[in-house]
Amino acid sequence: MKTYLVTGGAGFIGSNFILYMLKKYQEEINIINVDCLTYAGNLENLKEVEHRKNYKFLKVDVCDKKAILNIFQTYDIDRVIHFAAESHVDRSIRNPEVFVNTNVLGTLNLLNAAKLAWETEDGFKPGKKYLQVSTDEVYGALEGEEGYFYETTPLDPHSPYSASKTSADLMVKSYVDTFHFPANITRCSNNYGPYQFPEKLIPLMINNALNGKKLPVYGTGKNVRDWLYVEDHCKAIDLVAEKGRVGEVYNVGGHNEKKNIEIVTMIIDTLLEMLSAKDPRRKLISHDLITYVEDRKGHDFRYAIAPDKIKAELGWEPETPFSEGIKRTIAWYLEHMEWMERITKGEYQKYYEKMYRM
Ligand code: NAD
Ligand code: TYD
Repeated sequence: MKTYLVTGGAGFIGSNFILYMLKKYQEEINIINVDCLTYAGNLENLKEVEHRKNYKFLKVDVCDKKAILNIFQTYDIDRVIHFAAESHVDRSIRNPEVFVNTNVLGTLNLLNAAKLAWETEDGFKPGKKYLQVSTDEVYGALEGEEGYFYETTPLDPHSPYSASKTSADLMVKSYVDTFHFPANITRCSNNYGPYQFPEKLIPLMINNALNGKKLPVYGTGKNVRDWLYVEDHCKAIDLVAEKGRVGEVYNVGGHNEKKNIEIVTMIIDTLLEMLSAKDPRRKLISHDLITYVEDRKGHDFRYAIAPDKIKAELGWEPETPFSEGIKRTIAWYLEHMEWMERITKGEYQKYYEKMYRM
């Protein structure tokens, strides 16, 4: 029975991953979720599994050396799936320091603890794996409409967020190169789906539209992101953790490039389609809510992932077409309005006012 140490499991992708894994493997695996519960961490996401005997939550900061060492001494960890991070580009532009602490030093701390627990006289205990959950943003930006990021594309991050994720990837690479540490790195494009915090494009636009608030589109709205349904990302992570060749990097993406303005338009249209004629929110929603605002500083123009390697080596392919995934996502938010209301009270209001001034 394998024991997984999942960091950042109370966040968007981490909680989807835990729910997916416990559904898929049932009682066959143990999961220890290590999360310090920043503004982005929400244990409510994991309510349906919190009673399970093979799931345990530990409120621990990944930068806490003693606590992380202690976890590796207490449990025989087989897999580390490292999600915990500061994850929002806009916040990194305002306050980069916490990004370096969590994303870089937190990663180094986990690497050291796993190395210490797993090393033997002539290498590492068999069957162990560390997986660094990274991002396509480490490759920088594609300047035109053509071309893709491959695993061989030079690293060229622009934002403090992507610079911190790149630094973390390089620490993982250094442990692979120096110690033959059993790690993989996955680099995924933009995720969307249930439980995403409404500072990111899709849930922010859904929430604003439902409240009749302006929809702030940065710059021209023509920047392109490559969207993947979160469960498809979770499947890729599971596959790489099991079958990925040690030391390799795998890009994960679904060839689903969309301009930001297309996404916002689609959200408005889908909401109008889904809400019943009697729903009072229908009157609040229209294309007039779209408001072009000042561009993000250093705004990367286009991201597009080539997932050829993970497809050829491991047979992974995205399963959820965007047209279906976006409907499923919007339906989820409509069914979980209280979840949204709870997390957009208090601190979030202050963040929103400071960030958008509208
Ligand atoms: P998120 O912001 O929703 O969640 C991050 C989680 O990490 C939260 O639960 C938070 O409490 C926790 N955390 C933060 N600092 C911590 C610390 N010091 N110690 C312990 N826990 C801490 O992020 P997400 O969108 O779920 O992203 C998860 C990972 O996937 C990140 O590493 C991110 O870089 C990567 N990623 C995200 C996307 C995306 O589109 N969201 C795409 C590719 C890669
Ligand atoms: P985001 O969800 O923050 O992800 P990332 O910056 O990591 O790709 O943003 C996705 C795109 O949407 C990005 O080009 C910035 C843009 N955007 C807006 O136009 N308005 C917004 O309010 C937000 C949050 C993002």
